[in-house]
Amino acid sequence: MASSRRKFLKEATALAGILGIGPLWNRAWSRHRMPALPNANGNAAMVSTWNHGMLANDAGFAALENGGTALDMIEAGARLVEADAEGLSVGIGGLPDRDGHVTLDACIMDHTKNAGSVCFVQGIMHPISLARKVMEETPHVMLAGAGAEQYARELGMEESNLLTEKASLAWEKWKATANYKPVINIENHDTIGLLALDHNGHLAGGCTTSGVAYKMHGRVGDSPIIGAGLYVDGEVGGATATGLGEAVMRTVGSFLVVELMRQGASPQEACYEAVQRIIQSMPTDDLQVGYLALGRDGRCGGHAIHGGFNYAYHHSESFESSVHSKLIDASHGT
Ligand code: GLY
Repeated sequence: MASSRRKFLKEATALAGILGIGPLWNRAWSRHRMPALPNANGNAAMVSTWNHGMLANDAGFAALENGGTALDMIEAGARLVEADAEGLSVGIGGLPDRDGHVTLDACIMDHTKNAGSVCFVQGIMHPISLARKVMEETPHVMLAGAGAEQYARELGMEESNLLTEKASLAWEKWKATANYKPVINIENHDTIGLLALDHNGHLAGGCTTSGVAYKMHGRVGDSPIIGAGLYVDGEVGGATATGLGEAVMRTVGSFLVVELMRQGASPQEACYEAVQRIIQSMPTDDLQVGYLALGRDGRCGGHAIHGGFNYAYHHSESFESSVHSKLIDASHGT
């Protein structure tokens, strides 16, 4: 048995050499390893992008303590950030497109590959909840624009004018030059992507955003696209993206991160490799993308093209009620 495995590895390594690719198991998956949590029943973890991830994770763990699942953790965390009118990148208060419309994208996915998504939605307070309804109550995965809004109204979901005074003033100022620069960083960050592992070992993920500021009307980014802005495989782990959606969509980034994890990469290594895929594919001086990943054992990792990317990590072990939390700077260095 051992010798046939050795033979397989030898042949596969030789083939990889001929093809000019390094087999994944030979790569130096070594940087920024998170200490592994014991994969015992009862561990729970949640990771979310950017500073607002701290409060989102708090809300997620509150939902868990109230008997919720990983999906409930995701929805609770995302709703909190969607309702924050001060945030310029998610939900109410999000910066509008170049014509002054706030258009929202969101998706959600569970450990069984159920997924729901909405895009180009206007006037709806909680697109994450709408995405969950699409997943749970319809035969579809994705609803767009007026159709998604019609469904939200049928459900009696909360509606609101999402363009706040603060966002409107920023848009007026932008219009003076109308200089579209899709540079996304901590000062002008975007999407919240969230991944959660509940006490039953089930994973879920979500993503919600108002997208790139001053985008063309009708533009949809990576966040509602399953495989790009979010992907979850209950057997492996989950990944989510933040940053310029076009770069993420062109490399199917979150799916790539999860597939790399399936092949043995740690969450950190997988995020690093997916970032390299973008760097190898297109000029990146003026674009930022960050990936965040959570393994089914509760290990997490994150990496971005440029400095400034951070994420929040909360975990609790073996059903204990105390939750450990920290903000991790994944900004650079590999
Ligand atoms: N990552 C969010 C967007 O590009 O819309």
